[in-house]
Amino acid sequence: ASDRPLAGKRVIVTAGPTHEPIDPVRYIGNRSSGKQGFAIAASLAALGADVRLVAGPVTLPTPAGVTRVDVETAREMALAVEHALPADAAVMVAAVADWRVDAAAGQKIKKGEAQPALTLVENPDILAALGKSDRRPGLLIGFAAETERVVEHATAKRLRKSADWIVANDVSGDVMGGDANTVHLVTADGVESWTRLPKRDVAQRLARRIADAL
Ligand code: C5P
Repeated sequence: ASDRPLAGKRVIVTAGPTHEPIDPVRYIGNRSSGKQGFAIAASLAALGADVRLVAGPVTLPTPAGVTRVDVETAREMALAVEHALPADAAVMVAAVADWRVDAAAGQKIKKGEAQPALTLVENPDILAALGKSDRRPGLLIGFAAETERVVEHATAKRLRKSADWIVANDVSGDVMGGDANTVHLVTADGVESWTRLPKRDVAQRLARRIADAL
């Protein structure tokens, strides 16, 4: 029906931060709240999509009609995304940690001994891997959180990661954790700048665009 244009379509959404353990009680994380990704999952489900939400550690309720898998680290997120394939579209909203601690300590690191030195190694890029995968969703959407030259970086990212669309957002203000977002939609056709909107409205607009594209 026209009010459920995504019925029968499967969409993967990643959301939230990842936590990369330092030892059993400490981790490296970031300020992502998961709000934008969860709102997108909710809007897609409202349009009838079969939504698989892969969520990092956040304190948000599961949106109605969404199938949720909780993960902690980038590597767990990558595996969960792989398990959710195939999909008609994927919207990668998660703020995945770029690095993890090479060898997380098995026991709590005690102070008073030598200063611990953390060796970081790069995490898998889940979006870029999907872009190259032979199971690439037909519509692959990434996010780009930038604090400067937002559109320029997003345009480069679209090509580098073989994404169809990049939703670029300026996170220099109070976007992370906040309830509003100013985004630019970067596609092969160019750049569309949306006015500052509540994250819920950004999600609804994006979900409708996805429905049009599928
Ligand atoms: O390179 P950057 O982190 O700015 O790219 C952001 C986009 O790539 C987002 O869509 C994010 O979810 C995705 N990403 C990912 N795996 C990573 C890093 C980023 O899926 N390891």
